[in-house]
Amino acid sequence: MSGNPSDPGNSQRRLVAIYPGSFDPLTNGHLDLICRGARLTDHLIVAILRNTHKRPLFSVGERTEMIRKVTASLTNVEIDSFEGLLVNYAARRNANAILRGIRAISDYETELQMALLNRRMRPETETIFLMAAEEYSFISSRMIKEIATLGGDVSQFVPEAVTGYLRTKSSG
Ligand code: PNS
Repeated sequence: MSGNPSDPGNSQRRLVAIYPGSFDPLTNGHLDLICRGARLTDHLIVAILRNTHKRPLFSVGERTEMIRKVTASLTNVEIDSFEGLLVNYAARRNANAILRGIRAISDYETELQMALLNRRMRPETETIFLMAAEEYSFISSRMIKEIATLGGDVSQFVPEAVTGYLRTKSSG
């Protein structure tokens, strides 16, 4: 992937990409990126970060289940989870790309920093950015959780299956 820019590369190479994130919970913005990523790549691994420092609303099991439900028709999409460094996980999975979405300029700074650090640590893995679709560019999992736990209707922001999970959490 990296190296001589004039090297056209191997056209037979499979593009295996990791789409990492917290997905707590999955939003319509995430789902849009998964669908577009699946069209671009041979194999797309949606990788849920197992972060012991954060206290997520949904367990990794619940997040895996909800993402699996809404991506069931996408045959080249796999759902997995990881802990530790993303680049180490990418190496273990033989992934040649990391997929990330950018919603607004405010995302750019952090994403650029992550992409450059990841490239220094593992130049074989390129970060590919997709611009979020305009209609989802203002949606974030954090806001969705806040609206849902305060009793608001989030059905226009998350896939239908996720609304059910949020309802169960809010009422419990
Ligand atoms: O959905 P998020 O919370 O924006 O995802 C952030 C994520 C999971 C992509 C990022 O925190 C990450 O890659 N964590 C793994 C640890 C790591 O590799 N850190 C160094 C990044 S430069």
